[in-house]
Amino acid sequence: MRMTDYDDKKSGKTPLIEFINASYSYDTEEGAETPPAVKDVNFSISRGEFVAILGHNGSGKSTVAKMTNAILHPTKGKVIVSGMDTSDEALEIRIRQLVGIVFQNPDNQIVSTIVEEDVAFGPENLGVPPAEIRQRVDEALKTVGMYEYRLHEPHRLSGGQKQRVAIAGVLAMKTDCIVLDEPTAMLDPVGRKEVISTIKRLNKELGITVVLVTHFMDEAVLADRIIIMNDGRIVKDGTPQEVFSDVKTIRETGLELPIGANLAERLRNSGINLKKGILTAEDFAEAFSQFVVNNR
Ligand SMILES: Nc1ncnc2c1ncn2[C@@H]1O[C@H](COP(=O)(O)OP(=O)(O)OP(=O)(O)O)[C@@H](O)[C@H]1O
Ligand SMILES: [Mg+2]
Repeated sequence: MRMTDYDDKKSGKTPLIEFINASYSYDTEEGAETPPAVKDVNFSISRGEFVAILGHNGSGKSTVAKMTNAILHPTKGKVIVSGMDTSDEALEIRIRQLVGIVFQNPDNQIVSTIVEEDVAFGPENLGVPPAEIRQRVDEALKTVGMYEYRLHEPHRLSGGQKQRVAIAGVLAMKTDCIVLDEPTAMLDPVGRKEVISTIKRLNKELGITVVLVTHFMDEAVLADRIIIMNDGRIVKDGTPQEVFSDVKTIRETGLELPIGANLAERLRNSGINLKKGILTAEDFAEAFSQFVVNNR
């Protein structure tokens, strides 16, 4: 039985985002419905959580991301953001003040020729008074480590810097939740690190709810919780340890194990049993040296 509103209220926690039997079908150009891209999805995300969404190409991740802030409305079922139905167009602006999205391609998100104007775009559209916009923009740029670049041209920045400016744009809207759809897919390793450490900081230090769509297992392990999608459905929802200990589902959905889990699995197959729950390279190194010490 799923948690009811009553249970949520009793526990004092209204979910920030709730998908209730939510499906989405794109229309073809002729206006006919295609098979659903998202099918009967149920999950809820509480304030402060860091959730990663994994799944192979075409599994419905981006569609789910766009359903979280009313860019797409479910064709069946409901998506509720802080008690508000995303299908109610009158609530769209309020919903976008709670949930902001950063997309994969940094170049597509630049709307201005100066970094600080770019970051100001969101709050300007919300009608925030100029003095407060100034303050929000400065604060957001400092948070993502881009304050010194406030007068630069966004087009001349590196990919990682552009994504951090895009994140600042969402922060300046003061949303409770930031949804990032493969924000590092087009970045080099340095850019990836910059963006991922920024995202982690937003969650841990500022308490911002994070939904990170990614195809990098090593990014997903940083989350508190991982949702795996396959063919429009959720096939797994749990902690990184829970999810990656289900090696069968990981393989069946065309995903890989994170590096530490992969190495531990190989050793296990040759009869060396390291402790459970190894995910990262650091976890593996620690468990392996412990194993060597114990078996001297
Ligand atoms: N604009 C669209 N019109 C029609 N079908 C679409 C559209 N966008 C996505 N789809 C289809 O919906 C399904 C889910 O796509 P979606 O983009 O949500 O997957 P994804 O998991 O984000 O994939 P990727 O890893 O490639 O980004 C796919 O079958 C895709 O072809
Ligand atoms: Mg996608």
